[in-house]
Amino acid sequence: MRKRILSGMRPTGRLHLGNYFGALENWVRLQDEFECYFAVVDWHALTTGYEDTGELKANTREMVIDWVSAGLDPEKSVIFVQSHVKEHAELHLLLSMVTPLSWLERVPTYKEQLRELEGREISTYGFLGYPVLQAADILIYKADVVPVGEDQMPHIELTREIARRFNHFYGDVLPEPQGRLGKAAVLPGIDGRKMSKSYGNHIMLAASPAEVEEKVGLMVTDPARIRKNDPGHPDVCNVFAFHRLLNPSGWQQLEVDCQAGMIGCVQCKRDLNRYVNEFLKPIRAKREELEKRPDLVEDIIREGDSQAREVAARTMEEVRAAMQIGDR
Ligand code: TRP
Ligand code: SF4
Repeated sequence: MRKRILSGMRPTGRLHLGNYFGALENWVRLQDEFECYFAVVDWHALTTGYEDTGELKANTREMVIDWVSAGLDPEKSVIFVQSHVKEHAELHLLLSMVTPLSWLERVPTYKEQLRELEGREISTYGFLGYPVLQAADILIYKADVVPVGEDQMPHIELTREIARRFNHFYGDVLPEPQGRLGKAAVLPGIDGRKMSKSYGNHIMLAASPAEVEEKVGLMVTDPARIRKNDPGHPDVCNVFAFHRLLNPSGWQQLEVDCQAGMIGCVQCKRDLNRYVNEFLKPIRAKREELEKRPDLVEDIIREGDSQAREVAARTMEEVRAAMQIGDR
């Protein structure tokens, strides 16, 4: 029996290269080794943005298109939408009853985000309960492994604690999942900071060749390099960080040539532009195909929802029986 994976992303709209190398690439690889469940966690999006829900549906759809374009395969993985599987909400409610407040208040992302998103009214019940909802997402599929970034590890640890507490009261129903870090390829944005839509330093998976050219043109290089045969410092160069990921057979030679002042930044960017476009080409093609057939995306989601629902419903039967509530 293959081990089971669950992971999720909040529907923030179209994805960029940073999302791909930070998570999606890993998910695509895991599909062959694990039984995979990938959720668009739209209820989680509400925890920090509940006022305006106008974009949620479109963003959910866009994200599924990016996932599939980038290599998630609905034949291999269950791709579904959290809010379509109502059982998550029931388990969230039940888990919220056994989760001490103090556990939630000490989650590092909670305090951080409260500080960062200061000005927005997010001192809500739902926001505090974010990790409980995440625990429900994971435990309802009895996931063995949860691939996440470093920042999410405390949520996985909390999920394990909640499962332990549940099992202690009601019997062994919910297995404790393992968190699993990807190989953490951090792709900087075009300005060298972390790639993020909010910084505007990103390159979309759906970017056109003209957009790619513009973004690559704006990238910062080694600031100490003035003339093209000055020796360069690829380790501080943003363009080089992109070459490392997108030019796997050539970046080592480039490193040598740059340090020796044998290649100019203009040429180097021109090359990178080509590699980015080569990388995006099949992704763009798949996206075009999906955009032409809206019914296809609907079918993928509907099929995924129904597979997810089946597993979730089975777990909830066990949970209700163990707690002696809600079953008839
Ligand atoms: N909290 C995760 C994030 O912000 C998203 C998420 C929600 C998730 N539910 C999940 C990730 C379950 C893994 C498993 O990235
Ligand atoms: Fe960066 Fe390339 Fe210029 Fe070297 S040649 S500094 S790697 S852009």
